[in-house]
Amino acid sequence: MKQKYYITTPIYYPSGNWHLGHCYTTVICDAIARFRRMDGYDVFFLTGTDEHGVKIEKRAAENNTTPQAFVDKLVGDIKRLWEKLNISYDKFIRTTDDYHVKAVQKIFKRLYDQGDIYKAEYEGMYCTPCESFWTESQLVDGKCPDCGRPVEKAKEESYFFRLSKYQDRLIELYKNNPSFISPKSRMNEMINNFIKPGLQDLCVSRTSFKWGIPVTFDDKHVIYVWIDALTNYITALGYGGDDDSLFKKYWPADLHMVGKEIVRFHTIIWPALLMALGLELPKEVYGHGWLLIGGDKMSKSKGNVVDPFILSDRYGVDAVRYFLLREVPFGSDGVYTNEALITRTNADLANDLGNLVSRTTAMITQYFGGKVPAPTKAEEIDGELISMSVAALGKVRENVENLLIPESLSEIFRLIQRANKYIDETMPWALAKDPDKRERLATVLYNMAEVIRVSAVLISPFMPDTAQKIYDHLCLGKLPSDFESVKTFGGLPVGGGVVKGEALFPRRDVKKELAELEKLAESAVKKEEKKDGEYITIDDFSKVKLAAAKVLACEKVEGSDKLLKMTLDAGGETRVVVSGIARHYSPEYMVGKTVVIVKNLKPAKLKGITSEGMILCASDGKDVVFVSPEKEVAPGSEVS
Ligand code: MSP
Repeated sequence: MKQKYYITTPIYYPSGNWHLGHCYTTVICDAIARFRRMDGYDVFFLTGTDEHGVKIEKRAAENNTTPQAFVDKLVGDIKRLWEKLNISYDKFIRTTDDYHVKAVQKIFKRLYDQGDIYKAEYEGMYCTPCESFWTESQLVDGKCPDCGRPVEKAKEESYFFRLSKYQDRLIELYKNNPSFISPKSRMNEMINNFIKPGLQDLCVSRTSFKWGIPVTFDDKHVIYVWIDALTNYITALGYGGDDDSLFKKYWPADLHMVGKEIVRFHTIIWPALLMALGLELPKEVYGHGWLLIGGDKMSKSKGNVVDPFILSDRYGVDAVRYFLLREVPFGSDGVYTNEALITRTNADLANDLGNLVSRTTAMITQYFGGKVPAPTKAEEIDGELISMSVAALGKVRENVENLLIPESLSEIFRLIQRANKYIDETMPWALAKDPDKRERLATVLYNMAEVIRVSAVLISPFMPDTAQKIYDHLCLGKLPSDFESVKTFGGLPVGGGVVKGEALFPRRDVKKELAELEKLAESAVKKEEKKDGEYITIDDFSKVKLAAAKVLACEKVEGSDKLLKMTLDAGGETRVVVSGIARHYSPEYMVGKTVVIVKNLKPAKLKGITSEGMILCASDGKDVVFVSPEKEVAPGSEVS
């Protein structure tokens, strides 16, 4: 039976502003998942979206839409992004999925029933963008220690998770399982910054907003977004649902891959929750570094093109994947520049790999009519290339298993470079001139073509499209789904065809490309600014004069089933306003009510009546309700 391997990415906030940095975690997980599948594992690769919280609620309101409609649109966008980048996930979970919501509610209730969650009053410093409460001592210069933004004092009646109870067991866990948190430096960070100062119980419910999973037994409260989010790793497998067969098969996770800023949640809160639920703990949490631009966090408006769609369209999806996997020292931060992307693509993909394929297919075409020739006696120099090719899988595997991702690629490229050197050493073009060296020429070209085939299979988890293209150049059909054919040398059939085809990666003129990308970046910045143009300034808003007004009289407008005519006391003046709320309110009901009107709206004629203003109403698409001051105020009071 195949050994199982459960790998997860964090679930993404549906921010809509995805840049290359966001793709980093997911592309790495994809390469690992693909590698393990080919290496004989039964892999389950999970990704998804983290859709609740006050941020989403606010952004949906700013966009005049409901949180659900808002996240639905963005989830479509992120799925398109993963499709573009060839992400081979087995499941995409949304925290708004019904089964997840129900399972989280069950988990919360169970923890409450068993005393791991209790109710109390909470006062702390809250960082809205991070949705995190902090104690005074955790703040850095009075600001959020994660994002550096200001925090505000917040007080709520809340439910708490007894995190403090798990402090000793967490220390034990780290001690007994040194690979639970990696790289090692992150474990020290957790111990020194969070565990040693002492763990405090965690506030796990909110009453200040609605867009979250309600606590079933106290519906004023919604469940803290991180409890909701972290549990995705088990609810996605059916835990707490009707069918938990996937959970039984795949849990515990073999690897949670996360960015360094969220290691804390995954190595303290998450294992403590699992301990409380009596479940096995994940085997490893890996905290990778960030992709930075000029030492800064990535953003679409910082003068570098970091839009993964634009870059993939321009250079190919695999150039982007290769850059992410190869350029950033794994575990540390890496710097993105357009120049680094182009230089890396030129050097490794166009020169080393692309040239090897085009030189080899060209020579087989020229000297053997496009048919792979049969090798004969191997010479010493062949032996070196062959043993390197046979050893490659083992070395790449060792690196992948140790999560040394750039190293796995450099191992494959060492073979590719060795093959290029082999061409220079054996000089097939010189052999071709001597009819006595025909057999030697055949052997050399066979060896080159076979190394190309082996390299294609080995790079396929990292660059699946490119690997398939190489297989097409060698007329080999579909790429294999396992590594069997690279365990020995000589899998390439003699007599098979080769086609020269297009260059895998065209060489780019760095200067020209940089200028082009700068133009693209400028238009991206303009687009962002245009988005800013969707806002109005406070000066724009102050042009609108709003005031409270009391309805003195109200009647239906003849010939219309929608309109009501209202006579209003607007503070020292009487106004007539026509409003389209007749289907929602009767004239009798409106009399005596206080409404809010736009006072300086240009008068307009409706069904022959001049309407001198507009009544503010709220609508959820079904119902329409008029807006009214929360307490009685004098007619004419300014609303601002
Ligand atoms: N929703 C949480 C995770 C909950 S998991 C139970 C979250 N989402 S996120 O959308 O902000 O981040 C998703 C992933 O993208 C994280 O691993 C994060 O580290 C990664 N990246 C975002 N910007 C990045 C870079 N500039 N560089 C590398 N990865 C970064 O956190």
